[in-house]
Amino acid sequence: MPPSTATNPNIDATGRVHRRSFLAQYLRRPGSVGAIAPSSRHLARTMVDQVDWSRARHVLEYGPGTGAFTGAILDKLQPGARFAAIELNPDFARILQRRFPGATVVNDSAANARAICDRLGFPPAPAVDAVLSGLPWAGFPEPLQDELLGAMLKVLKPGAVFVTFAYQFGTYLPAGRRFATKIRGLFTTVDRSPLVLRNLPPAYVYRCSTAG
Ligand SMILES: C[S@@+](CC[C@H](N)C(=O)[O-])C[C@H]1O[C@@H](n2cnc3c(N)ncnc32)[C@H](O)[C@@H]1O
Repeated sequence: MPPSTATNPNIDATGRVHRRSFLAQYLRRPGSVGAIAPSSRHLARTMVDQVDWSRARHVLEYGPGTGAFTGAILDKLQPGARFAAIELNPDFARILQRRFPGATVVNDSAANARAICDRLGFPPAPAVDAVLSGLPWAGFPEPLQDELLGAMLKVLKPGAVFVTFAYQFGTYLPAGRRFATKIRGLFTTVDRSPLVLRNLPPAYVYRCSTAG
């Protein structure tokens, strides 16, 4: 039986995850964690504001980490909507499941999104209305960017949205520039938010949509 959030040393009484557990994971796996601290609630709000929740029946979160966006997503989900958070790091997946016991947390790679949707009993692909991603795209090599984007396009419905963020400094890095070029080629519309300054580091949010 996992300890409750009240007794989990990584989570305080208000449900906030200690930043040091995030930093420890970054030091162990810098390439896949891609950040030294969880995102702010301001970035979380900008992320969830990109989705029309009244129409979102099947929703995935990629790379939830310790849940910086997960609570905001769960607050927005309409009754009857299905949601799964896909997290590669087993320690983060465990923390996340303890923090949100009612949520479906899948410890796997988002590259396996289609098989995960099938396993969860989502309607036959493409069935997903929205993917909200915390993946560190600017730190990924090109083959991994391609694999993850290709797998995502197989599950997104026509008219679906893909929401992700990019640290401002990351948009100057070659992999960050390559990612921005790729999404402009793959999605029908790509909009970038104003810079969210109340996040460390400041970040943009991208809203990408498939043809409806
Ligand atoms: C920058 S952190 C973001 C965490 C959280 N969303 C936030 O904003 O604080 C990136 C997260 O993506 C996860 N991740 C990396 N590669 C992944 C993959 N292929 N599939 C699922 N999660 C992955 C990492 O383990 C980490 O939790």
